[in-house]
Amino acid sequence: MKWLEIEAYAKVNLGLAVLSRRSDGYHEIDTVLHTISLSDRIRLEGPMRSWSLETTGLEVPSDEGNLALRAGRKLEELEGCPPFRIRLEKRIPVAAGLGGGSSDAAAVLRGAEELFGLEVGRRRLEEIALGLGSDVPFLVRGGAARGRGRGERLSDLPVLEGAWLVLATPRTAVSSAKGYEHARIGLTRSERLIRLSCSAIREGRAGELPPLLHNDLEAGVVSFCPDVAAARAALSEAGARGVVMSGSGPTVLGLARGEEEARGIVSRLKGRDFEINVARPTRGGSRITGRSGA
Ligand code: C5P
Repeated sequence: MKWLEIEAYAKVNLGLAVLSRRSDGYHEIDTVLHTISLSDRIRLEGPMRSWSLETTGLEVPSDEGNLALRAGRKLEELEGCPPFRIRLEKRIPVAAGLGGGSSDAAAVLRGAEELFGLEVGRRRLEEIALGLGSDVPFLVRGGAARGRGRGERLSDLPVLEGAWLVLATPRTAVSSAKGYEHARIGLTRSERLIRLSCSAIREGRAGELPPLLHNDLEAGVVSFCPDVAAARAALSEAGARGVVMSGSGPTVLGLARGEEEARGIVSRLKGRDFEINVARPTRGGSRITGRSGA
């Protein structure tokens, strides 16, 4: 039996414009994505006779309701991968706008390809990933990218090397479907902000990002989850340079310049009822940290 350990990174959306509603139930979006160092830990063991998923940490389903298991089964169906055991240590807040479940799925795809020498290739892996969720192709790749279409039409951006992020996650889970139901659609200003953010990142002017951060889903989510507005206000008051809700929320991220500034913001958030995490940008969506025979 072989094993492989892999860290699956969370993502944030530094900007998200909702352009239109599509006939297939999804929304056409334009978004700036970045993977960050907050991670789940995954261990794959196999081949096995049948599939299994064991989870520790935060509560998540350990059946087909878990995207990590669905990712494994998809590889079996499409690429002849043998069944394996997945052990998932869940640390990324769940249904929080951080792409945790999607990242677990992406890491299972990458990890299993590596463990069983499947040689699927990145393009095909991203295709399989889209069958699991809109964010999964980006999380197979990781780093920084602009995402159009459902979020899967990706163009790479340079990684934001110097940035630090403080994440404030209200204790209310928000499903993507509910977040998108309340979307503000087709605001010209939002598209412009995304364009300007991408230029700033591409041209190494990350210092210009704070006033450009914007998410068309935020106002709608605030309407049924006022804690998002409270998290935004708390991060601003605590000294974050720019503040925006990530994805369909409810996590709100604050940008800091350097570790000291990030830790200062965290200390000023003490006593607030949010889950607080500090994170750095990462270059990939996942990282193999150990394997049998290595
Ligand atoms: O693709 P994923 O399964 O992550 O999407 C979950 C839900 O989020 C979709 O069923 C849809 O309601 C909403 N969504 C959307 N437009 C997108 C991405 C997600 O409306 N671009």
